[in-house]
Amino acid sequence: TKKPVIAIDGFSSTGKSSISKIIAKKLGLIHMDTGALYRGITFYAIQNCLNPDKTIDISKLLSSLAEMKLEFQNIDGELQLFLNGKNIDKEIRFPQVSDYVSQVAKEADVRNFLLKTQRDIANKGGIIMDGRDIGTVVLPDADYKFFMTASQDERARRRFLELQAAGEKTDIETVKQNLISRDKIDSERELSPLKQADDAVLIDNTNINKEETIALILSYMKKF
Ligand code: C5P
Repeated sequence: TKKPVIAIDGFSSTGKSSISKIIAKKLGLIHMDTGALYRGITFYAIQNCLNPDKTIDISKLLSSLAEMKLEFQNIDGELQLFLNGKNIDKEIRFPQVSDYVSQVAKEADVRNFLLKTQRDIANKGGIIMDGRDIGTVVLPDADYKFFMTASQDERARRRFLELQAAGEKTDIETVKQNLISRDKIDSERELSPLKQADDAVLIDNTNINKEETIALILSYMKKF
């Protein structure tokens, strides 16, 4: 039997990546967190392309894209992101990267640069990819498409607990403002905006936990 291609899109901090990871293990698929790629480019920008006023010098960043080699390496069964040979999988989750990433992700050159990386990996088949435009743009022919959402308060609460557990000093209101601002930029951008594909199943997990969300998603994929 052919292994499925699954697209999971949705709002920030709805659990897309952690849930995709578990489903991938269960079904013997590869999991790719496409947000990591946008975060990788943003990490590079913060280190190399910041203006004195702390905004990103977008034209400098765009002319540096060719120098960036972003690739995933399988480390203990998990795809981790490498930039020019260096593992940056931890660094890209820092709140500073979250603050800038949506600015970077709305650039056409950035999106086109990453489109090929994403499709090349998906072409090998048997994959679950999570992001914002997977079902709509990157893999419009995916076998299964899901769109995840949850209330802003619940998402902020989950993200805050995650950051706290990772030792980050932050507060829930700051976390919530970042989520709201990213979702707004991601949904309103011209290119590949965050939106539910017509043929995607809507999963609202405001009131259900991770295990229940996984069970719900799997219930739509009985064939596999
Ligand atoms: O999934 P994650 O929250 O790590 O994604 C970070 C950011 O990357 C998103 O807020 C969005 O701006 C961008 N992104 C995107 N398209 C994707 C995945 C992520 O624009 N497929």
